[in-house]
Amino acid sequence: MGDKEVIRLKDVFRHYHMGENIVKAIDGINITINEGEFVAVMGPSGSGKSTSMNLIGSLDMPTKGQIFLDEEDISQVTESDLAQIRGKKIGFIFQNFNLIPNLTVKENVMLPMMFQGEDIYKREQKAEELLDKVELLDRMDHYPNQISGGQMQRVAIARALANDPEVILADEPTGNLDTKTGERVMEFLQKLNDEGKTIIMVTHEPELAEAHAQIIYWLKDGKVEKSTKRKNGFKVVEQERRLIKKHSKKRKTPAKKKKGA
Ligand SMILES: Nc1ncnc2c1ncn2[C@@H]1O[C@H](COP(=O)(O)OP(=O)(O)OP(=O)(O)O)[C@@H](O)[C@H]1O
Ligand SMILES: [Mg+2]
Repeated sequence: MGDKEVIRLKDVFRHYHMGENIVKAIDGINITINEGEFVAVMGPSGSGKSTSMNLIGSLDMPTKGQIFLDEEDISQVTESDLAQIRGKKIGFIFQNFNLIPNLTVKENVMLPMMFQGEDIYKREQKAEELLDKVELLDRMDHYPNQISGGQMQRVAIARALANDPEVILADEPTGNLDTKTGERVMEFLQKLNDEGKTIIMVTHEPELAEAHAQIIYWLKDGKVEKSTKRKNGFKVVEQERRLIKKHSKKRKTPAKKKKGA
């Protein structure tokens, strides 16, 4: 992994005017994210995590400041160029999966490629390849309401990968899943990061952030309150990850209560 910059937020603000009031969802953020990093974004509800993801994913525009994707200022390009850039360079995984209910699993994965103008054969081939990767090839003709939550999230991962994006944005990818299913989803994200993808993940679970991310940004009131970096540099070794997991499990185990207490 080099030090190539992929994303940079420069003095970014996102304020909402609500009548007399101003909601400062993002209030002056400066962050640089390099290629191949696994970044976690944490912070209390309402601190601006989703807003920052939407800005990075260019689903939303800053009211002030600049956002660079591969050193190109995406706060300056036109909406149609933006859609192209967004579709090609960024894969989005949403908390509520956002699958289209009347399309099959396979068609959902094919959709982003259609917007990039790929031909149907390529789309089908790629969709099947990706569904194989997330171990859902046998479900490709099912509709979203015919598969489980964990499977839906894996379809969402496959869809996010459709156009070979450089960056994957995941807003609480395990938020709606039980621990076990969530771990499975994390394994996939980790594998993608090991293959070189840049991952930015919002999470409320510190043990997930600690086990996977090399840097954690803590947001509060739309600002970066602090950032914590892994001490031993980048790339978490598998052994270390298991250790963190083990300890965080220990930490979470509640003290045994006496019967009848
Ligand atoms: N469209 C909007 N109009 C006005 N205010 C908004 C809008 N979207 C978000 N906000 C406000 O901006 C702030 C940040 O919201 P955001 O969704 O980024 O929080 P979050 O950190 O993702 O929280 P959570 O952990 O609950 O998902 C909140 O105070 C929210 O109410
Ligand atoms: Mg949110």
